[in-house]
Amino acid sequence: MPLVPLHEMYEAANKKYYAIGQFNVNNLEFVQAVVQTANEMKSPVIIAASTSALKYAGLENLVAIVKAEVKGISVPVALHLDHGATFDDAKRCIDAGFTSVMIDGSHHPFKENIRITKEVVDYAHKHNVTVEAELGKLAGIEDDVKVDAANATYTDPDEAVEFVEKSGCDALAIAVGTSHGAYKFKSEAKLDFDRIEKIKTMVNIPLVLHGASGVPAELIDKLTKYGGKIPGAKGVPDEAYREAVKRGINKINIDTDLRLAFTATVREVLTTKTAEFDPRKILGPARDAIKEVIRQKIEILGSADQAYAGKSTDEELVMN
Ligand code: G3H
Ligand code: 13P
Ligand code: ZN
Repeated sequence: MPLVPLHEMYEAANKKYYAIGQFNVNNLEFVQAVVQTANEMKSPVIIAASTSALKYAGLENLVAIVKAEVKGISVPVALHLDHGATFDDAKRCIDAGFTSVMIDGSHHPFKENIRITKEVVDYAHKHNVTVEAELGKLAGIEDDVKVDAANATYTDPDEAVEFVEKSGCDALAIAVGTSHGAYKFKSEAKLDFDRIEKIKTMVNIPLVLHGASGVPAELIDKLTKYGGKIPGAKGVPDEAYREAVKRGINKINIDTDLRLAFTATVREVLTTKTAEFDPRKILGPARDAIKEVIRQKIEILGSADQAYAGKSTDEELVMN
């Protein structure tokens, strides 16, 4: 099945209150893990590449790998640019075959964020490509930070309305307490669910949760057992996903958990099988570990068996 733009997946997700996972990739094994798991679970899925992933793998290479992998499957897959910084980042990806792009102008002043987002929207929509924008700052909020300080970085609902109206973006990443990486919270995870719900009611477009990795204990334990060191790492618990989705989040971004699964498994193989030097026997198990993480996320987000949601029975049959 050819790659699809996000709006074709969002409609059903928005109506039925489930979320679609965005999984970040850097190479063949990551792409295969995402596509295979989505296909096995009959789930729509978003493959994302950051600008640094594109620099690492090569834009054309990554697009070619993704297109080849989705050829034999029938679930909808979108190829999405994660955190594009400039119009040129977005244009390069659109021209190369991406079906969705993020333009992250969140570090710019409000008006400049609108301007740069609209510039990307105007180009993307001409090519049937979906645009995600970001409003608010995703920095982690420590436990002792005052509410005022949180308010200054979290997404303001009134600004969100004006932003969506003026920029024309299709989806909005909001800041509600998560942050990127493996160190998100000092103690208890705190997400501003009421803010998600308020923004959702006011803007009524799909909302995106970045920095959503769970950093699960079993991955930390495995990494640590085989020599890794990430003391104090903490992520978003499963209950928080469920609540966030219930309140209106339709897309959840996961990168760190895949990296943890990959690295913990590579460490395990290299430690337990010291005579092994066939890369396929090292990267194969790592790919399986990534698949398991993706499987768990798809389960929690509720997108399993939703690949054909919104399609008529006839279309479903054709796709099958
Ligand atoms: O949101 C950021 C992603 O985790 C991408 O990270 O720039 O290291 O590829 P990266
Ligand atoms: P994590 O670092 O929590 O996986 O977040 C990834 C992300 O937001 C990619 O855009
Ligand atoms: Zn992000």
